[in-house]
Amino acid sequence: MRTQVVIIGGGPSGLLLAQLLHGRGIDSIVLERRTRAHVLSRIRAGVLETGLLDLLEQADAGTRMRQEGMPHDGTLITYGDEAFRIDFAELTGKSVMVYGQTEVTRDLYAARDKTGGQSEFEVDEVQIEGADSDAPAVTYLQSGVRKRIACDFVAGCDGFHGISRKSIPGATQRSYEKVYPFGWLGILSETPPVSDELIYANSDRGFALCSMRNPTLSRYYIQCDAGDHIDNWSDDAFWTELKRRIPAEQAANLITGPSFEKSIAPLRSFVTEPMQWGRLFLCGDAAHIVPPTGAKGLNTAASDVHYLFSALTRWYQHNDADAVAQYSQRALARVWKAERFSWWFSKLMHRFPHHSGFDLRMQRAEIEFLRSNEAAQKAMAENYVGLPYEG
Ligand code: FAD
Ligand code: PHB
Repeated sequence: MRTQVVIIGGGPSGLLLAQLLHGRGIDSIVLERRTRAHVLSRIRAGVLETGLLDLLEQADAGTRMRQEGMPHDGTLITYGDEAFRIDFAELTGKSVMVYGQTEVTRDLYAARDKTGGQSEFEVDEVQIEGADSDAPAVTYLQSGVRKRIACDFVAGCDGFHGISRKSIPGATQRSYEKVYPFGWLGILSETPPVSDELIYANSDRGFALCSMRNPTLSRYYIQCDAGDHIDNWSDDAFWTELKRRIPAEQAANLITGPSFEKSIAPLRSFVTEPMQWGRLFLCGDAAHIVPPTGAKGLNTAASDVHYLFSALTRWYQHNDADAVAQYSQRALARVWKAERFSWWFSKLMHRFPHHSGFDLRMQRAEIEFLRSNEAAQKAMAENYVGLPYEG
């Protein structure tokens, strides 16, 4: 087989890239390790920046998001029983969209079906050949048969545990990592959200987040120990703990119900540099991870897709080799800013096991500064709604 771009990974970054390339007449084949149903069952991000919304429209996958997504003009930050609001719309002129990653992926698959683009599922033992040559290829095993696709470029969109990053020789690569000493226990429940806007809560008992997917579906998280297990958390225990971490006023209004998804996610910051090797380019979680506190994971994956899509378009339409050579540098400039914001917001909102009295006072002072200082709020809001795509 032959195509122009082989895309490893059929998650949101891989599919978005495939559909954007299709719009410019550039062919791709998407290779996904799991079944389509499995990919669509993963519950992950919920807050989308305008940059991602525009890309979804461009990929012809934005209609349902515009109809069913919920624009949010601000968010609440609470500590103990105190609360204040960051007004994104007033501070930046922008808002964010609450629309689940599951729905984004569903819409991208529907767009892919409509265009007849090729996606292969349940592929195993994916290997990249000749990424440092002008004629790379990708081989894989499917139903016991080994297959080979010759191509011009390979996009590694296969997430943190994928093979793309590991295919780059260690000597040409440098990675930076910070593992946080806690995780997030998250649930979905068919109950109306406790508030019209998200609530990020700092409390003596640890962080909590009240989010949502739609007016009848809520998503809640609480900070838990890194080694904790969902079997330790009955629904009752979860709701009781959540109520203790949000202000009394919101706790009194919280409507509880059975959870139908419960999982624990570790928190990590990770970046690998450079994000390319020869004709292999890394996109999204394959190259970097953020703690979810700033809702930047999916959005930063989307900004990578933007830079790679524009570089590949310039290659195919204008024979511009420089754009391709500069992909990593362009993408990383924005990645590091999203890393900084996610790290800062995580530090501000969580309880760390080794926090001293001084550390707690510093955290409190910083929250007070954010509450009372418009410049600080503007900096927070600009990062939350998403920094511009440059170049
Ligand atoms: P992924 O979504 O990981 O997709 C990669 C795809 O590649 C997968 O479908 C995988 O099956 C496939 N794949 C892997 N290996 C191979 C292989 N060898 N061959 C072929 N295919 C392969 N972000 C937020 O902003 N907010 C959140 O609340 C949030 N919660 C999260 C919870 C969890 C448990 C995780 C893991 C992530 C969460 N994120 C969150 C991050 C966000 O979901 C990711 O940033 C986003 O999914 C990145 O998209 P991606 O396409 O780069 O990677
Ligand atoms: C979510 O709704 O899953 C969500 C929202 C905001 C975050 C993280 C996760 O910062």
